[in-house]
Amino acid sequence: MYKLSNLVNNLENELKKNDINESIDLRLSNIPDWDFQINNLVKFQNSNDINKIQKAFSKIIQADPNIKNFEFTSKYFINLECDLEEFKNYFENIRNTIKVKNPKTIMLDYGGPNIGKPLHVGHLRSLNIGRSLYNINKIAGHNVLNDIHLGDWGMPVAQIISYIQKNNIDINKVGIENLEEIYPEASKLYINDKEFNSLAKSINKQLNKNEQELISKWKKLKIISIDSIKNVLEVLNHRFDIWKGESDVNHLIPEMINNLINAEKISLDEGAYVSNLKTDPKILITKSDGSYLYLTTDLATVLDRLKENKIDKTLYIVDKRQQLHFKQLFSSIDYFQFSEKEFIHVEFGTINDSNGKPFKTREGDTKKLIELYEETLSKIKKINEELDDETNKLLANTVLTFSDLITNRLTDYKFDLDKFTNIGGKTGIYVQYAHVRAVRLINNSSIDVNDLNLNLADLDEADINLIKGLIKFEYYFKKSMENNEPHHLADYLYELSNLFNTMYQSDNILENKNEMAKLNKLKITNYFINYSRLIMESLGIEPAKRM
Ligand code: ARG
Repeated sequence: MYKLSNLVNNLENELKKNDINESIDLRLSNIPDWDFQINNLVKFQNSNDINKIQKAFSKIIQADPNIKNFEFTSKYFINLECDLEEFKNYFENIRNTIKVKNPKTIMLDYGGPNIGKPLHVGHLRSLNIGRSLYNINKIAGHNVLNDIHLGDWGMPVAQIISYIQKNNIDINKVGIENLEEIYPEASKLYINDKEFNSLAKSINKQLNKNEQELISKWKKLKIISIDSIKNVLEVLNHRFDIWKGESDVNHLIPEMINNLINAEKISLDEGAYVSNLKTDPKILITKSDGSYLYLTTDLATVLDRLKENKIDKTLYIVDKRQQLHFKQLFSSIDYFQFSEKEFIHVEFGTINDSNGKPFKTREGDTKKLIELYEETLSKIKKINEELDDETNKLLANTVLTFSDLITNRLTDYKFDLDKFTNIGGKTGIYVQYAHVRAVRLINNSSIDVNDLNLNLADLDEADINLIKGLIKFEYYFKKSMENNEPHHLADYLYELSNLFNTMYQSDNILENKNEMAKLNKLKITNYFINYSRLIMESLGIEPAKRM
């Protein structure tokens, strides 16, 4: 329960009494001295009931212990000021306060690498946004599951095996470096070489028929590939609960197709099965040669997941270029009556290099994720020559995560290493440094801050600004969770770090002659540390121990 949710609920109930069914939109105020703003009544300013509603609202707000002061403007904007005394306890228990009342089971589908190909820069956003949404929902008390959903089946796999077969390569001697060279070659041949093209098609068919010798080759390739994917994920600090892939649902497809035919949900159209749902373009369920599509597998995956877990909501964190695919998937889930639960495409834009061009290697391939990490790490090492390895690695991951999450996920952005590692900028390094500084201050004070009680009478402007910053936490947390947009929290972490730095720099805290002022500042610093850690956890960033 959020601190201000009672207020919101009471106001909503009051609206309902007046036959108005809408949610109260509690917004942050940008007017000095006011903390929050409610604009819901503005559009009713000419209604006959407005005076009655205003009176009732006043009563409710007056009775709410969290609100110290409020006003209605002439246009019925409501301005609210919080009572900090009431929030003191809340600052101590923030983790409990943000737990939801009705936890749901949420499946997060992200990462989605294809076997045979290394993780590349294009995977970064899915991984970052996915991990952050996983953590945020978990912190809120939901049941979360993440599935990497490997692309481990279908034509790309058939192409690799065809290449190995055609060139008499001993599969037992294939390593990940070879595999990474084979894949692009094989897909080129598939397009340009007729003979190779039909070989791959026939191998694909045999794979689908479970031809044992081919399956055992496929398994070997998969192991090599997963090993390498796991290594990179470990470096980048990602973990998955479920390691399923497209291949795991293949056996469910024939029955699914049959059921759809019997239910008259799909029909033959020039040899291919298409959905009977009238859409433009038509929704293709199988190709005319009987082979399956990306959509076919995703439909079967939905069935598989529903069978294994009771899932209330599924988030697919996938590039926005796949918009049509997910639109078709979701309308099919609905039309085929597979599920009435929530399915959401959490889409995102592209990362480009510092010149705004697609990230390529010198050879023209998409840049590997591990190379981007290594470049970031070596830049960090140059800046912090005397820092230990562990911290430098942690900071490299911070940069790769924070700079990615601070951007609204729908916008494309340029990966600019100089900018992203600037300790004075809006960067992961900046927020880490503020946190380390705060911890150092507490340690140097040798005071047990947990036992301190904040004395609101003895605060200066910088202290109040930071405390007022803290009360916004639930607002941003909720916003990030509800809209699946980590950037609100990333932005907020920067804002808080800034407020802390202002407080820190305005005064030599440990030398302060006014003991009460000093203890207050230490107490607020401790709140800042706890909030900062909680937000870092929400974003998938580990706090650095030293800098
Ligand atoms: N492997 C896919 C690709 O590379 C991404 C998978 C996303 N998840 C899904 N359930 N479709 O495009």
